[in-house]
Amino acid sequence: RKIVVLNGPNLNLLGTREPGIYGTTTLADIETRLRERLGLRAELDFRQSNHEGELVGWIQEAGREGAGIILNAAAYTHTSVALRDAISGSGAAVIEVHLSNVHAREPFRHKSLIAPVVRGVIAGFGPLSYDLALEALLAS
Ligand code: DQA
Repeated sequence: RKIVVLNGPNLNLLGTREPGIYGTTTLADIETRLRERLGLRAELDFRQSNHEGELVGWIQEAGREGAGIILNAAAYTHTSVALRDAISGSGAAVIEVHLSNVHAREPFRHKSLIAPVVRGVIAGFGPLSYDLALEALLAS
């Protein structure tokens, strides 16, 4: 069994990016935490890209491999028909995650274009959102 964790634009800056909202944990810290939690239960691939098309390619690849996806699409969550179509077309099980509670923020973050085509959404728990998504994926 394989799990692919895909992180979208600006998440490479976690740790220094708006720490009041996103905290001081880096993306590398999140990856380390996840690997520790996962142990030997599955293979884990952890990636980040600032490019929409690259994320589309990775979703397609995960679909072909039959991998489960944990996706923090970041700003593309709110804008990307391409990511939504990639998810629908891949047939992959996708859990949408967000560090922040997007519903408690600006109105433009309340709408997720991908939410209707994912298995479930976890938002607002900081790095723990990723752990919860991992457990949800493994349990389903
Ligand atoms: C985010 C929330 C998005 O609205 C924002 O654009 C991000 C990060 C989160 O993890 O809280 O870049 O996906």
